[in-house]
Amino acid sequence: MSERVKIAVVGSGYVGLVAAVCFAEIGHQVTCVDIDEAKVAALRAGVVPIHEEHLDALLRRHQPANLTFSTDLAAAASEADAVFIAVGTPQSDTGDADLSYVEAVACEIAHCMHSYKVIVEKSTVPVYTNEWVRRVVERNGGASDMFDVVSNPEFLREGTAVSDFLHPDRIVVGADSDKAAEVLDAIYEPLTSGAYYAQPDAIPGYRNANSRPPLLVTSAKSAEIIKHASNAFLATKISFINAVAALCEAAGANIEQVAQGMGMDERIGRRFLRPGIGYGGSCFPKDVAAFRSVAEQMGLEFGLLSEVEKINTQQTKRFLAKVRSALWTLRGKKLGVLGLAFKGDTDDIRESPAIALVRMFLDEGCAIRAYDPAAMERAREVLPQSGEKNGSLTYTLSAYEVAEGADALLILTDWPEFGKLDLARLESSLRYPIIIDGRNLYDPREMTSAGLTYLSIGRPDAHPASQSSAEKEKATA
Ligand code: UDX
Repeated sequence: MSERVKIAVVGSGYVGLVAAVCFAEIGHQVTCVDIDEAKVAALRAGVVPIHEEHLDALLRRHQPANLTFSTDLAAAASEADAVFIAVGTPQSDTGDADLSYVEAVACEIAHCMHSYKVIVEKSTVPVYTNEWVRRVVERNGGASDMFDVVSNPEFLREGTAVSDFLHPDRIVVGADSDKAAEVLDAIYEPLTSGAYYAQPDAIPGYRNANSRPPLLVTSAKSAEIIKHASNAFLATKISFINAVAALCEAAGANIEQVAQGMGMDERIGRRFLRPGIGYGGSCFPKDVAAFRSVAEQMGLEFGLLSEVEKINTQQTKRFLAKVRSALWTLRGKKLGVLGLAFKGDTDDIRESPAIALVRMFLDEGCAIRAYDPAAMERAREVLPQSGEKNGSLTYTLSAYEVAEGADALLILTDWPEFGKLDLARLESSLRYPIIIDGRNLYDPREMTSAGLTYLSIGRPDAHPASQSSAEKEKATA
């Protein structure tokens, strides 16, 4: 039987909530703390604020026996052996991470040091944060032998967060003391020993008792850099393939074939080589900027990351130009928009390139009808109903409604359902049978056989064989 550790998780955002629920799932006693009383009340009532597979079920499974929610940080931290800080680290005006929430939590924990505690950074933070947390706790009365600060970054993706947490590629523990590393070892033991995967009701994933996740112990500073460098590297991979996609368009090559050929080299790998309208979400844009800023503060110019950001920004502009190339003028054009979330399988619209594009089309004076399976409620809160040149925006109840009478249909988010649409139905609903796909969800031949003109990323424009040359010209003018 593995050791049951008393854990407090501070912050019930994406990382905090998923970590709290998953620590309970692997057998620990967890209190999840948030200052937002309404959120805590909702979680106690079993209402999950985010769209995430398995979260509801695990909340029901473990609340209240192994998992409780509270607004009382002092009480939770006093009881705990390990306090995970998972509060937000928003981007400040200069690009670096705003660590004021982390500091506030560290201050409060300092007053609860009645027994030895490991304070764990779970939020994505710049290198040296662990040293600052240590200093803040000491300045506020925490005796140095009563605590250690550890960095234990989280690599979960939205939409698959629970299974990413329970079936990780690796667990990184940045600890400068053996005592602290042992506590983290005990917390993750159900995963590293494989015991969790042998449970009949374990959440399924790619790990099993014979393929257990490794736990890598590093210095605290290295762990902090591992998190930033991993996200920056993945963002670089995406910008790289998007730059190559632009080259393919200019050369008349096909990016899907190029990415396939590159990805077959195991040193490169196939994943994160999908071209599109650019990366978004709560992590990549913020972390690339923060990592660049960390380097700057240390007197190093990480110009590669500026280029990664530049390519990402250009990607939405390039897509706008592609739509213009198909429709000529944009003012007054009716556009059907499929997808508002920053990627499929999530309702998150933070830094979504789809939202950025809708704003751009509204400013161009387009009449937009938009549909997203999960993100419309959130989109309503941030998107204006009209743009600079009297564009307009309405939401519909289905992908097909979006297409009705539209001059072109745009695919902006890679929701699986957008890749399985009834093409004949779309062809007859659209005013002009044009689909412009920012996520390469279709085989161009499938589209042209259905009578559709199909423009995608990094591939030659595709036109149905029967299309008249006048129509063809119109579609690509
Ligand atoms: C990311 C990291 O993957 C995760 O490890 C980290 O903890 C948090 O940030 P997430 O933001 O949930 O996770 O999404 P992810 O699936 O990584 O996609 C990020 C963005 O890149 C999305 O906008 C997605 O559409 C885009 N993307 C991803 C591409 O454009 N091409 C790809 O090949 C992969």
